[in-house]
Amino acid sequence: MKPAGVDEQLLQRARQAARQAARRSGRLQIEGLRASRRVEHKGTYDLVTDVDRRCQEAIVAILQAATPSLPILAEEGAAASRLPDDGWIVDPLDGTTNYAHGYPAFCTSLALRLRGRLELGVVYEPLRDELFEARRGRGATLNGQPISVSETTELDQSLLATGFPYDRLEQPETNLDRFCVMTLRTRGVRRGGSAALDLCYTACGRLDGFWETRLFPWDVCAGALLVLEAGGRVTGLRGEDYDWSGRDTLASNGHLHQALLQALADLPPEAPFFG
Ligand code: IPD
Ligand code: CA
Ligand code: CA
Repeated sequence: MKPAGVDEQLLQRARQAARQAARRSGRLQIEGLRASRRVEHKGTYDLVTDVDRRCQEAIVAILQAATPSLPILAEEGAAASRLPDDGWIVDPLDGTTNYAHGYPAFCTSLALRLRGRLELGVVYEPLRDELFEARRGRGATLNGQPISVSETTELDQSLLATGFPYDRLEQPETNLDRFCVMTLRTRGVRRGGSAALDLCYTACGRLDGFWETRLFPWDVCAGALLVLEAGGRVTGLRGEDYDWSGRDTLASNGHLHQALLQALADLPPEAPFFG
């Protein structure tokens, strides 16, 4: 049954446009890998390449043509990071540090929010030609096939991912303490370098969970919807309702969520070693 208040035609149009934009962005990323990349600094460790900007321009043109009434919050040049009640949320290239170095882990992440609810999430990883999609209430897919989270129930059998904020030299909390604790208590903690992919890999069971702080809506919205639609759970790091801002994200297969919350809260008394 059609959910009340959802404009089905708009959503269909938006979904086609998001797929097209993500694939176009992926082609630009592959082409750009073969050329030398221009890299600029937004901060000490926060990079942007000419390809990030080219991808954003192409995505914005496609989304604007298909859904002219919807505003677009896109990372590059964004004046603010406030989540819009209605509109697109775009990370043209998630994994820019990897990309700048030619390390093969990056993607494009697009999400659509309507009336304050996340409706669509599309993430495209061009090197493996993997298109992850989620629609609220309708599940999540990878290249059109339904996906679901893992069934792991024990922390010591889990594989996790995390990341470290760009402003780690300026802020006391670096995530290194949590990384140490989780590394000792799990099969491993990956630092993939693309939060959107970490979330997609949690959604399809390649990872059992992911946490990170001080991200932005464009890093997390599409991937977090994927995790939820694949049967997982997403909250803040203390178990609070997820606010989609990216400030604080814990995503898991659901079975491990309580254990992860407990372990993250359970830093040794002598912490912080690193902050
Ligand atoms: C970054 C990636 C990375 C995460 C950073 C993000 P960007 O996004 O998602 O995995 O650790 O905090 O900012 O800058 O490559 O779009
Ligand atoms: Ca990002
Ligand atoms: Ca980015």
